[in-house]
Amino acid sequence: MPGVFSRVMRFPARLLRRVRRRSREVVSTLRYRGFWPLLWYLAKSFLSPLGQLSLVNLYERDLAEPVPDVHPKVDVAVTVADGADIKELLTLARTQGWPIPRHAEEPWERCFVAKIGHEIVHSGWIREGGSIDFLVDPPIERALGSGEAYFHTAYTSRTWRGKMIHSAVAREKLLYARKVGFRKAYSLVGADNIQSRKAVERLGWHATARILFFVGRRPRYTFVWVVNGRLNMFGGGRRRVHLVRV
Ligand SMILES: CC(C)(COP(=O)(O)OP(=O)(O)OC[C@H]1O[C@@H](n2cnc3c(N)ncnc32)[C@H](O)[C@@H]1OP(=O)(O)O)[C@@H](O)C(=O)NCCC(=O)NCCS
Repeated sequence: MPGVFSRVMRFPARLLRRVRRRSREVVSTLRYRGFWPLLWYLAKSFLSPLGQLSLVNLYERDLAEPVPDVHPKVDVAVTVADGADIKELLTLARTQGWPIPRHAEEPWERCFVAKIGHEIVHSGWIREGGSIDFLVDPPIERALGSGEAYFHTAYTSRTWRGKMIHSAVAREKLLYARKVGFRKAYSLVGADNIQSRKAVERLGWHATARILFFVGRRPRYTFVWVVNGRLNMFGGGRRRVHLVRV
């Protein structure tokens, strides 16, 4: 009985925390992404009891094309991460929720970091083998071909956003991938992730498909709709709609 009582007493505080978190997300979506992404965010939240809705842009980059200059607004050093950087990133993942890709330890994952002084302010990854993750959970993947690389999991520390750091790292990643012999790069960006799309688009990537996924709460199948663009990513010839068994 005391357990039930204390749970009832804690309920208003939990509800208040949730409302505060949601309102912060709404304000930040409206401020940095705009009105349509806000409507999309609300639609996703509304549908979330039924399942997870996502709309992603597939970007492609011919690595032979010139790479534009980028001028970050702060003095930042971009390098391939070494063992100590990876250790630091794992700590940041534990303490501050930085994203670490699930295959981080595979030899075909290459991590780049941006530092201001000794502080890591950004990490971003290139996959040099394996697959493109259209969805991680449940996994929907497409194997990379020879000469193809996948750019993924870019993250800038909250306090350093809006200083062109992502753009600067993405530029270094393009130069590196070209230098080591890749011919083509892919990246997936949420269609409503305007901050990320800006960096990708200013560096000459082209959106070649827009794909909608719906994963039901108890998924056995995931609904995939190639809204426009490249049709052959799921091996289904010219079909736009796929039910992928998971
Ligand atoms: C997407 C992300 C990596 C961009 O990093 P960044 O270093 O801020 O990128 P840039 O400085 O090049 O800025 C891109 C845009 O962010 C927006 N922005 C500016 N200040 C911002 C702030 N304080 N907070 C959030 N976004 C801001 C602006 O629209 C800016 O565009 P502009 O340069 O034309 O003004 C970063 O927002 C992030 O880590 N987001 C969470 C993870 C994520 O979405 N990763 C991408 C997965 S594909």
